[in-house]
Amino acid sequence: MSKKWLNIVYKEKNPNRLKKHYKQWADDYDNDLQAWGYAYPKKIKQILSKHIQIKKNSRILDAGCGTGYVAETLIDLNYKNLVGIDYSKDMLEIARSKKIYKKLICQSLSKKTTMKSAQFDLVICTGVLTSGHVGPSAIRELLRVTKPKGYLILSISETIFSKLKFKDELEKRDSEYQYVHLTKPFIALPNHNDSARSRMHTLQKK
Ligand SMILES: C[S@@+](CC[C@H](N)C(=O)[O-])C[C@H]1O[C@@H](n2cnc3c(N)ncnc32)[C@H](O)[C@@H]1O
Repeated sequence: MSKKWLNIVYKEKNPNRLKKHYKQWADDYDNDLQAWGYAYPKKIKQILSKHIQIKKNSRILDAGCGTGYVAETLIDLNYKNLVGIDYSKDMLEIARSKKIYKKLICQSLSKKTTMKSAQFDLVICTGVLTSGHVGPSAIRELLRVTKPKGYLILSISETIFSKLKFKDELEKRDSEYQYVHLTKPFIALPNHNDSARSRMHTLQKK
């Protein structure tokens, strides 16, 4: 395990260099996140059991799916209709090897994707809307591909919520969705000294 990757990826400003970091990290990513106590899978589980109700065959997009670490929790909960999108083919290769997604798409979320509008019952996006990764403009894209009455569960770290204008983007689009639930801030990686504090934002598209 190397603790360096967290700082490297969240400080990187160049998307091509970021992709190279994920290429090098991909093989160790799951073990590292597990060792650091990755909190998002548990939070997703809580939100799905307490705050939103969707059918087990719901079509779910894992946006910035990486290796599929969080999707494995969805599979454990018997949600099996999963599509993943990520711009790193190396992270996607690990995800593909798990055979848990119906489809994997290698595209950036920083611009409009080729995904059809209004097709997902739920979009999850964890560890992606953050510094050096995907900016607030992706919220528009994630809302676009969500069905009316469908849900979005987004992790957004507290330090960048205002600074990188995620708050502004959500406010600008508040006629397109309603808040279903907002967690208190929590430490995303409790066993890593440099972990950000995040919240899970659960929205329902109007
Ligand atoms: C910290 S990982 C999170 C992966 C997964 N969601 C999880 O929670 O384990 C961040 C992911 O965002 C992806 N990513 C970064 N910039 C991206 C972009 N512009 N478009 C799509 N994916 C991107 C990276 O390739 C990486 O897989």
